Amino acid sequence: MALLNVITSMQQCNIHCFAIFVAMILSLSFASAETHYHQFVVEAAPVKRLCKTRNIITVNGQFPGPTLEARDGDSFVINVVNAARYNVTLHWHGIRQMRTPWADGPEYVTQCPIQPGASYTYRFKIENQEGTLWWHAHSKWLRATVYGALVIYPKLGVPYPFPMPEREIPILLGEWWDRDIISVLRQSKFTGAAPNVSDAYTINGQPGDLYRCSKKETTKFNVRSGETVLLRIINAALDQELFFTVANHMLTVVGNDAAYNKPFQTMVIMLGPGQTTNVLLTANQPAGRYYIAARAYATAQNAPFDNTTATAILEYNNFLSQRPLMATLPRFNDTATATAYTSQVRSLSSGKVFTRIDENLFFTVGLGLVNCQPGPRCQGPNNTRFAASMNNVSFVFPRRTSLLQAYYQNIGGVYTTDFPRVPPVAFDYTGNVSRGLWQPRFGTKLYKLRFGSNVQIVLQDTAIVSTEDHPMHLHGYHFFVVGQGFGNFNPRRDTARFNLVDPPLRNTINVPVGGWAVIRFVADNPGVWLMHCHIDSHLTWGLGMAFLVENGIGELQSVAAPPPDLPPC
Ligand code: C2O
Repeated sequence: MALLNVITSMQQCNIHCFAIFVAMILSLSFASAETHYHQFVVEAAPVKRLCKTRNIITVNGQFPGPTLEARDGDSFVINVVNAARYNVTLHWHGIRQMRTPWADGPEYVTQCPIQPGASYTYRFKIENQEGTLWWHAHSKWLRATVYGALVIYPKLGVPYPFPMPEREIPILLGEWWDRDIISVLRQSKFTGAAPNVSDAYTINGQPGDLYRCSKKETTKFNVRSGETVLLRIINAALDQELFFTVANHMLTVVGNDAAYNKPFQTMVIMLGPGQTTNVLLTANQPAGRYYIAARAYATAQNAPFDNTTATAILEYNNFLSQRPLMATLPRFNDTATATAYTSQVRSLSSGKVFTRIDENLFFTVGLGLVNCQPGPRCQGPNNTRFAASMNNVSFVFPRRTSLLQAYYQNIGGVYTTDFPRVPPVAFDYTGNVSRGLWQPRFGTKLYKLRFGSNVQIVLQDTAIVSTEDHPMHLHGYHFFVVGQGFGNFNPRRDTARFNLVDPPLRNTINVPVGGWAVIRFVADNPGVWLMHCHIDSHLTWGLGMAFLVENGIGELQSVAAPPPDLPPC
């Protein structure tokens, strides 16, 4: 009937309105969202890096793992088969997982791990998100090698808010250990000391020219003179914040953590582990070869770090000189450059930040030391073991079941909901902290949020052991970063300076070294959501906590039923 109407009215239609009909029919047939099916086999595979071949854990034998692609509104069905010898889970970093916390992935938080030989299917939908995200293992330190890009394009027919690039290039920055990462983890857990630092950084899995036995395999990106490319840069490093630059080329920053920002230009960007940045690069330099480089932004005092530089090569199609042009990167402790960069990030769209706050929270983030009997298990500074905490609670993951299952099935004794809304003792957080405050308490404490409440969190770094820039990641949400600064947060002085007009929207925020960051979000996604430092060694020491967001009213505001194949513990 409708079709008949269309046809009759088409007969009375001139050529202009005919074009409109065609466009309408095309958009009707293409607008429908797709479901993307994948199988991810987690398995060991031999890889040669830095002159040595060894087995690493991969997905489908690939390193980095496969790139997932979808459009906003699409769904994923990813069947994960564990053919490795370790328990594993996968996390879709930055995907909001509205009502589907069961697919989020952090082990013992939203699921029990997939045991060797077992499988689990992650099912989730992308709702109102576009940009660059990524996926990674969320189990032990397996994400050192188990990670890949997750690219979300706009809905069909919807353009980018910038000129269409001629090419898109995902760039995954990683961190490589000569030793098996699980043995590095075991050793540091045993000794209580800081883990071995990495032996190399990598760009799309390759360390590049400046390392032994790596030159031939250096990652190359080809560009044509004059074209503009979109670089989707992901910091997938396990523990290290990184500076990134391209020799002689200006970068136009257009997005962060799958949110667009007002474009601005810079020579260097900085990303904490977990963060992504989209930049446009125009190949407007003399045809040649140019280094792309990444190295550490390391802020902890007197702490060892991997001081090497990863490189890749940007190669023009008609290049003349063979030798790549070297890139200049800031010094490892150049906080001024890091800050100058981050303070320029502003949301593209404005005016959506709430001003009525229901939950005003203040969380310290920082390290700690636990005193112990001198011996092999007490090799941290001055006979201690390293720890870390938020509001003096060093987070302990349950083992019996996941937090989400304990909540959903009403299993007692797994967690408590008394995570403190402010530190138990107020002190000069970034000053000279008395030794009596260095030792945290261990616990599995959640903070309960009413559905729909407006939440503000002040994240305050501490000088315990050392101040340090911590990349704090919140699962299940993205949040506005309304303010950042150095020293102790001062509500009188700092609140007045908040950006409530166009603050950046992110899922991971670098809390400045010896400083603070303030974030806001509406608790509109029920479930149990981990918030943690994305430096894996810090998370292992306890730098995390979890929110329990209660259901609202009705099915659309409630956690969906758990999938039947949810792994048992
Ligand atoms: Cu990217 Cu809790 O993780």
